[in-house]
Amino acid sequence: MWRLTASSCGPIVSAIVLAGCNYARGRWVQDARRRPLYSGLECKRWLSPMWACRLTQRTDFSYESFRWQPESCEIQEFDPDLSSLARLRGKTIALVGDSLGRQQFQSLMCMLTGGKEAPEARGAIRPDGWAYRFFATNTTILYYWSASLCELEPLNRSDPAATRYAMHLDRPAAFLRQHIGRFDVLVLNTGHHWNRGKISGNRWDMYVNGAPLRDRRMAEISRAKNFTVHSVVRWLDSQIPYHPRLRAFLRSISPRHFVNGDWNSGGSCANTTPLLRGVRVQDGGAADDALAAGAVAGTGVRLLDITAISELRDEAHMSNYSLRASSSGVQDCLHWCLPGVPDTWNEILLAQL
Ligand SMILES: *[C@@H]1O[C@H](CO)[C@@H](O)[C@H](O)[C@H]1NC(C)=O
Ligand SMILES: *[C@@H]1O[C@H](CO)[C@@H](O)[C@H](O)[C@H]1NC(C)=O
Ligand SMILES: *[C@@H]1O[C@H](CO)[C@@H](O)[C@H](O)[C@H]1NC(C)=O
Ligand SMILES: *[C@@H]1O[C@H](CO)[C@@H](O)[C@H](O)[C@H]1NC(C)=O
Repeated sequence: MWRLTASSCGPIVSAIVLAGCNYARGRWVQDARRRPLYSGLECKRWLSPMWACRLTQRTDFSYESFRWQPESCEIQEFDPDLSSLARLRGKTIALVGDSLGRQQFQSLMCMLTGGKEAPEARGAIRPDGWAYRFFATNTTILYYWSASLCELEPLNRSDPAATRYAMHLDRPAAFLRQHIGRFDVLVLNTGHHWNRGKISGNRWDMYVNGAPLRDRRMAEISRAKNFTVHSVVRWLDSQIPYHPRLRAFLRSISPRHFVNGDWNSGGSCANTTPLLRGVRVQDGGAADDALAAGAVAGTGVRLLDITAISELRDEAHMSNYSLRASSSGVQDCLHWCLPGVPDTWNEILLAQL
């Protein structure tokens, strides 16, 4: 069970709201003096070795040296020491989603500690996630694994190893419903688990209204995903009036960059030259996440819009680099090297708090 002491309402830190700034439009700027925000050799406490490209066979690290410059505003320079937590004083920041959400969580922990050991943070590994509290500012950062964002209910509780799960497309994950009142900032994401292979591999059966979904049209993956994301966002929007301090975000999809095949058919992302696709994201032509944008439209849930920005960064994935030289030829063109692109997602998030 998750046990976080109920959070009190910390002093409201006023954020400078730059009216009209669209953080999703701008350009990547090389700035090796100020990037990366932490060392991939140092952040051992929070950064999974499998995502720390400095620990792999990779020899090219130019992907670490870029920062995002929005078109019409500045992102305040990130201060890589704990004082930058001041604006997070007393707050609980929750990231809930799939492994890309976990990458964003690890990135945030590394950013906030500068990648250094931080004995002043205490926390614990929980079933399905992690939670840490920084005592200096009483800030709690947590990650909870929920790949679909919807409730998963074991159908045979006496057989935990082999049970199938009702995947309730119209019910938010139980963790969200239970703990929504404790979050000051909530960032949701989902996306890459919405395919037949993952859904059947996980033994998930789609349910709506508490009953198995028989409507085949609705059970099409893209429709079921859209229906679920809309349901979760609508529910979250309905919660905001009861939790006025909550700032809720849906992170748009993190792009994959497999070329010449998919992950299981020889696809790769071998390019290491940054920004061959251009440095700019402008209106028109931007590869935005229409599903996520549609889901939050007209609600109090905001879009953490990182899709088009990240689309330009095909060189910054794990690719086929691994901890040992004799890799199995696995290509990961989905997850990102850290430090790397998810750091920018967090800078954009922090800019909007
Ligand atoms: C720290 O935060 C927790 C929960 O977020 C709260 O219960 C506690 O009172 C806070 N402590 C201080 C010293 O502000
Ligand atoms: C649930 O699992 C148990 C243990 O494997 C099995 O004996 C039982 O038949 C299962 N129940 C159903 C309804 O499938
Ligand atoms: C997604 O779901 C919403 C709400 O049910 C609907 O209005 C919209 O048309 C759907 N979009 C797609 C692409 O199916
Ligand atoms: C990774 O891929 C590149 C180009 O596709 C290839 O030259 C290299 O040998 C691969 N490395 C490993 C460890 O498989």
